[in-house]
Amino acid sequence: MLALIDPPMAPTSFIIIAIDGGAASGKSSSSKILADRFNLLHVDTGSFYRHITYELLRMGVAHTDLPAINAALATLVFTTRLNGRSAQMLIGGKPAGSEIRGQNVNEHVSHYAAIPEVRHALLGYQRGLVDVAKAHAFRGLVMEGRDIGSVIFPDADFRFFLHADPAERAKRRANEGQTDSIAERDRIDSSRKASPLTCPTGAISIDTTSLPLAQVVEQAATLIAGKIG
Ligand code: C5P
Repeated sequence: MLALIDPPMAPTSFIIIAIDGGAASGKSSSSKILADRFNLLHVDTGSFYRHITYELLRMGVAHTDLPAINAALATLVFTTRLNGRSAQMLIGGKPAGSEIRGQNVNEHVSHYAAIPEVRHALLGYQRGLVDVAKAHAFRGLVMEGRDIGSVIFPDADFRFFLHADPAERAKRRANEGQTDSIAERDRIDSSRKASPLTCPTGAISIDTTSLPLAQVVEQAATLIAGKIG
């Protein structure tokens, strides 16, 4: 008789976990805990879009000026260093500063992230982090963002989509002391043509509105542990 349940993965196989969702949906906290629990490289792709946005703003390149964006992108060199278990993207050898979490970047990042050329500039870099993870003997990689399960790793071993009520998410940001127009960012991220924020077909959707972080992690970890043995 044929087995109807997926067999556990070989203990040594490299695993890729994609976690997508809007701002303050719980993806950063849960992916960091999963990275610790399963010895995974943690990748926050939002920080990459923030870092690029900061650089383009610093260079005075408007998001409406495509030729200038293309010219600027051609000069940006992306490399990686590890910050604990997290991959940190360097641009021109420099890490991002705390400014990438500031109001100016919050207000502009979704406009730059909607530009296909900007997304294309990061595509190969993001996929290449699998090699970085392997080179540093991680068991796998957990990557969080908006298009990880849909575009970057559509064949990931696990794809999760986290979501929560807008009011709850705004409260979470306010509790962190941040001024962040998350509703506006969600609107732009979900309605853009290039890699819109969406729950990819087949992904596991988790509503985190009234779910404590520990339970969000437990739901994901149980599935992962069940498969990797
Ligand atoms: O995750 P975070 O809220 O820091 O992301 C900042 C912005 O970066 C998002 O609002 C979105 O515009 C962009 N982003 C994206 N694709 C990703 C990750 C982030 O477009 N994979």
